[in-house]
Amino acid sequence: MKGNVIVGQSGGPTAAINSSLAGVYRTAKDRGAKKVYGMLHGIQGLLKEKYIDLSDHIKTELDAELLKRTPAAFLGSCRYKLPAIHEDKEIYEKIFAILDKLEIEAFIYIGGNDSMDTIKKLSDYAIITGHPTRFIGCPKTIDNDLALTDHTPGFGSAAKYIGTSMKEIIRDSFCLEYSKGLVSIVEVMGRNAGWLTGASALAAGEDCEGPDMIYLPELAFDIEDFGNRVKALLEKKPSVVIAVSEGIRTAEGKYVCELGNSVDFVDAFGHKQLSGTASYLASYIAGEIGCKTRAIELSTLQRSASHCSSRVDILEAYQVGGAAVKAADEGDSGKMVVLQRLSDDPYQCGTEVKDVHKIANDEKLVPREWVNEDGTYVTSEFISYVRPLIQGDVSPVMVDGIPRHLYTPRELSER
Ligand code: F6P
Repeated sequence: MKGNVIVGQSGGPTAAINSSLAGVYRTAKDRGAKKVYGMLHGIQGLLKEKYIDLSDHIKTELDAELLKRTPAAFLGSCRYKLPAIHEDKEIYEKIFAILDKLEIEAFIYIGGNDSMDTIKKLSDYAIITGHPTRFIGCPKTIDNDLALTDHTPGFGSAAKYIGTSMKEIIRDSFCLEYSKGLVSIVEVMGRNAGWLTGASALAAGEDCEGPDMIYLPELAFDIEDFGNRVKALLEKKPSVVIAVSEGIRTAEGKYVCELGNSVDFVDAFGHKQLSGTASYLASYIAGEIGCKTRAIELSTLQRSASHCSSRVDILEAYQVGGAAVKAADEGDSGKMVVLQRLSDDPYQCGTEVKDVHKIANDEKLVPREWVNEDGTYVTSEFISYVRPLIQGDVSPVMVDGIPRHLYTPRELSER
């Protein structure tokens, strides 16, 4: 590489997104990039010329190892939608002037389907204007809803945390004599895709029967039927544990969380903040059945639990970061790195690049045949798909009994 590289992080953080950042940095340096810049808060920060030189922060091999084990977006994230090129040419001129000033050869954006919209628009603009900078997307999302890739970095670690926590919740709810009749409803992220919620089935094994029911957002949710099923389960068992996706909707298309006191926040991409599904359903069950209930929102914990991350996930996240730089260095632009599963047993996976126009703004959902007939559990095919992705551990570097992280750049907190 003759020029410089700039990398940004965008969208919801994960436990593996910083491993991709470490992979971008290492590969860019190995391929001769003079400088590797990090945008602060993604494209939104770049527009305000906020960036750092990553060499000032990743100084040793230990720093790189800590970065791989640091949850959340080290560079800060954003949910910023670039206007269409014909709507605001000035914003593109501004971005490209900054890229010229920094002599950027490769622009790497680590993110999900909304972030790939940014790669798509910037690479289109570069083609229209004949600009030489190359734009590559590096996949990341706990939701696992990106098209054309077998799975997304970040998903495996979140799935491992969800399977583990679900098992711990089931243990807890079954041990208490005074908790007879307890219904625990566990709310899982994932927006309109049920990959993460389905991962709660990983709790099941020789020593745990797993959740009693799992509700994914891909199928319409019938609240009355749900109440009847819970009642029937309570007649047979002392306590019941159910996983529900934050994005389940009624047949009329209304999010269940909107039936209660939901939050009205909508982001730049028009996504509503989904939260409150478990608490609404717990109140409903308490009212209908008169039993004790507990609403458990895994919320931020499921995407920031780097102490429980999957080794496969952290390694693949690093690998896709490196593959993104390689693709740009070899002349690709307007592409996203995808993971291609070669075999399940032994698990083997490689990388390729695919046209980002076929990925941006799309949502890959759980196929209907991977959910049982009555829509209350995932099938064994679903579990076989997820299980290889949660294998292995990455030990945190413990200092005084608490995991050590790579310290956030000071510039990130300057407004
Ligand atoms: O897209 C990733 C994700 O974690 C979703 O699962 C969730 O709905 C959303 O982000 C939450 O986003 P935020 O933290 O911006 O509210």
